[in-house]
Amino acid sequence: RTKVTINTIEKLYKDKEAITMLTAYDYPSGLFVEKAGIDICLVGDSLGMVALGYQNTSRNTMEEMLHHCRAVARGAKSPFLVGDMPFGSYETSPTDALKNAIRFIKEGDMESVKLEGGSEMLETIRKITRVGIPVIGHVGLTPQRQASLGGFRVQGKTVENAKKLIDDAKALQEAGCFAIVIEAVSEPVANYVTKRLSIPTIGIGAGAGTSGQVLVQQDMLGCFDRFVPRFCKQYANLDKVIIDAIKTYNKEVKTGIFPTAEHSYPMAKGEYEKFLQ
Ligand code: KIV
Ligand code: NA
Repeated sequence: RTKVTINTIEKLYKDKEAITMLTAYDYPSGLFVEKAGIDICLVGDSLGMVALGYQNTSRNTMEEMLHHCRAVARGAKSPFLVGDMPFGSYETSPTDALKNAIRFIKEGDMESVKLEGGSEMLETIRKITRVGIPVIGHVGLTPQRQASLGGFRVQGKTVENAKKLIDDAKALQEAGCFAIVIEAVSEPVANYVTKRLSIPTIGIGAGAGTSGQVLVQQDMLGCFDRFVPRFCKQYANLDKVIIDAIKTYNKEVKTGIFPTAEHSYPMAKGEYEKFLQ
């Protein structure tokens, strides 16, 4: 595969070809993204929930993110690599944000960063993009702010909410974002935003009109034990496949079916007889 760069993404957008994005959290899931030919690989802070078992994403630290980013980068060689800035790593000041964005490049082997928020992030995004680090924005349902949103709620359902969303998306483009993730937003509003921007929108639960789509890998593969939102199509039920395989292994060991000669190593011919003498 040829390496996906920011130019490739721009070309896909200009050609009106849908941009595909999928999350990964470690070397094997990064390899899956690589081998399936996905355009952008996101090390989402959803890793806190799906890979580390936290209840939400607010606990994720920079160290955890960087550790996982490096592993993903070893597997996902061709997709464009995006590191998701964790809660607390970019809100305190544009300088803090820049420092942590640089860490994603230097210590996480990522090529760009994603951060949540609208017009209030303008100065921060300018600061990061100015030094040559591409930034993806994230509006609509911003999980790091779920407490103030009153939970994981669909956005852009009312006129007031829709207007704010559109203003935020425009501000992010103005600030220099090269793409914007739009999460859990009513389809008409996501379409409206997409039509009015000159950078790609990557939707998750935002309908079919965005410039691309993103899903959480564990959700779409059916290997996460908690709530799966309506917007996530499950393309497999890996949980079942994996648990069935492990159950069979457990049973076969208990009942002496595994291992057989096929899985065992003999000594060199005649050596065992000599050994016994
Ligand atoms: O953390 C994540 O996986 C994300 C995507 C759902 C966009 O932010
Ligand atoms: Na995220």
